[in-house]
Amino acid sequence: MAFDLDLIQKVYAEMPGKIQIARQLLGRPLTLTEKILYSHLDKPATSILERGKAYVDFRPDRVAMQDATAQMALLQFMTCGRDKVAVPSTVHCDHLIQAKVEADKDLQVAVDSNKEVYDFLSSVSDRYGLGFWKAGAGIIHQVVLENYAFPGGMMIGTDSHTPNAGGLGMIAIGVGGADACDVMAGLPWELKMPKLIGVHLTGKLNGWATPKDIILWVAGKLTVKGGTGAIVEYFGEGAKNISCTGKGTIGNMGAEIGATTSTFGYDESMERYLRATSRAAIADLANGIKEHLTGDPEVYANPSQYFDQVIELDLSTLEPYINGPFSPDLATPISKMKAAAEANGWPTKLEVGLIGSCTNSSYEDISRAANLAEQAVEKNLKAKAAYTITPGSELVRYTIERDGYIDTFGKIGGTVFANACGPCIGMWAREGADKKEKNTIIHSFNRNFAARQDGNPNTYAFVGSPEIVTALAIAGDLTFNPLTDTLTNENGEQVKLDAPTGYELPTKGFAVEDAGFQAPAEDGSSVDVKVSPESDRLQLLQPFPVWEGTDLKGLKLLIKAKGKCTTDHISMAGPWLKFRGHLDNISNNMLIGATNFFNEKTNSVKNELTGEYQGVPDVQRAYKAAGIGSIVVGDENYGEGSSREHAAMEPRHLGVRVVLVKSFARIHETNLKKQGMLGVTFHDNEDYNKILEDDTFDVLGLTTFEPGVPLTVVAHHADGTKDEIQVNHTYNQQQIEWFKAGSCLNVIRKEFGV
Ligand code: F3S
Repeated sequence: MAFDLDLIQKVYAEMPGKIQIARQLLGRPLTLTEKILYSHLDKPATSILERGKAYVDFRPDRVAMQDATAQMALLQFMTCGRDKVAVPSTVHCDHLIQAKVEADKDLQVAVDSNKEVYDFLSSVSDRYGLGFWKAGAGIIHQVVLENYAFPGGMMIGTDSHTPNAGGLGMIAIGVGGADACDVMAGLPWELKMPKLIGVHLTGKLNGWATPKDIILWVAGKLTVKGGTGAIVEYFGEGAKNISCTGKGTIGNMGAEIGATTSTFGYDESMERYLRATSRAAIADLANGIKEHLTGDPEVYANPSQYFDQVIELDLSTLEPYINGPFSPDLATPISKMKAAAEANGWPTKLEVGLIGSCTNSSYEDISRAANLAEQAVEKNLKAKAAYTITPGSELVRYTIERDGYIDTFGKIGGTVFANACGPCIGMWAREGADKKEKNTIIHSFNRNFAARQDGNPNTYAFVGSPEIVTALAIAGDLTFNPLTDTLTNENGEQVKLDAPTGYELPTKGFAVEDAGFQAPAEDGSSVDVKVSPESDRLQLLQPFPVWEGTDLKGLKLLIKAKGKCTTDHISMAGPWLKFRGHLDNISNNMLIGATNFFNEKTNSVKNELTGEYQGVPDVQRAYKAAGIGSIVVGDENYGEGSSREHAAMEPRHLGVRVVLVKSFARIHETNLKKQGMLGVTFHDNEDYNKILEDDTFDVLGLTTFEPGVPLTVVAHHADGTKDEIQVNHTYNQQQIEWFKAGSCLNVIRKEFGV
């Protein structure tokens, strides 16, 4: 049994009481989201937690990590001195498998080429009590839905599509590895109390319309930013009419509107799914408290009183959507696609249709797509475009093979890729993509940014349901509307595809031979965690040094960054992904994307020791070798973008002591604090202009470092003059302890006597 029934029992036992306290505190009925959030607080609330304003500490029930992000999260965790993870946690090997030929061959290549990373993740999981899902077991979110998600639970995951678990009524949120590390170490997890968007679904999907079309429609309505800082709660009769995995699809793609997460109230579709995936015990428990696993009836009767925004959608009227190209919120109803393609000059010949991924690879999705493939065979149609299938898990793959669907796909020329991310994350060795030709593909994944699937910025990638992807792959034409259009078959006859049919769940039940799960050792203390000192992909972490107890003197300016400086500018992705588990190697990308204010160039800053211009990491390494600290100066919203902790760990590792900016993106600011860096902001933004290239800096006030008390940065100019600059900080007492100890992890280490 992969899931933890005791944990769920405990959550459910405490939930009604906690919800009642929250109801009294707020003096009104509660949404489902509020029920889950208030029942997962670190400390009981004593006042209303204001949405969009209050920073709140939560206690998530679970952590899940995918292989690309798990490496640094676990390397950090290993240094904290804990013997075991504090909450149930899992690792999923899904991102590092390239789709090239077909499942078995591609998987073998990945197993060989990533051996040391997989061995590390496997042994560290064994050692510290994490469940480990091997390469080929499936994609994190599908595996979580099948095994770990439970109604009313709260989890975090180191991947932005973690909200997929909202399909089973969870609050499931994507985070960076440092957050995962903290929660595994037993710390609470902080989140700004989200705003609430309610989506009221009425009616019932019919014909070609699918759950995917709901989220494609919502994305069109709210755009890629519309859900920022909000949790989307779906409710109404329409929601009950959607399968659990269909709800997962909607939750998953909620990431594309920037939502913190999305969720649904517990209903019979969830009960059916729990029972079908061998979790009848959870369904029984959930049935026992089901009124607490959905919003209060008064909320849904009068939603505009309780949600910050309410959207209405009648599913009976919804038609299929195709979103794209290049953005998942560019929504076009299928009946308007022909006109839109013409108006925009989109290439209409369809080269490839790809179904599956973590977003759309349920049994229901596959059976409905296979129904269309079967119809194509019966009606003497050949698929004009290439067609690929990426199952989300071995459980699904094994079951659909048993039920003949893989054979059916084979009859229209379909290729089955490994149960992994593959083309969704650009791990697709697509033949000819390097020629960068203009072409069109359609997939049932979630993101379609330029170059995301095949590295070719001229690939026009559209997103649709697996059913629409299949129909269009058969037609080989982006503008084909299967609801109204006919196709010419091999005999020259006009034939029409019927609306797809399928099965919500396998009638013979799910089956699998080897799901790919490795349970951790009962007592992992003797497990040897494998990290070769020669490895260029993995490196054990050393604790960062403690603060020396004095003001900082004689710092050199590393870079005064001009304009936008996101986490991508600070720690680039792309080819650097390979080094996500090796802090020293990945530090060679530190700030190489930032623009130097003084020469407007990237990766070219003055080495104050030699007067020469060199790359940023080279200069910083020279300062480090000379035992000299440095300062990074930045502009507004410094560190926006992803939550990757590498953007804070790299400067810390290379000896940067201070980051002084006009303003921070909040997550990056927290990451800096966690890594023991000093992140401060100009009191007067005009002082940014006082920073000169040859300055040397002192930071004063650290011996009396206190919350709310500004510090002083003295900029000593080369001409002998100086400017005293007041700088503000947002460190609370706990965070000041992190700074003094050298990092948050060092504080935890102390607690565990390391
Ligand atoms: Fe993987 Fe794509 Fe999902 S990268 S986790 S299949 S969004």
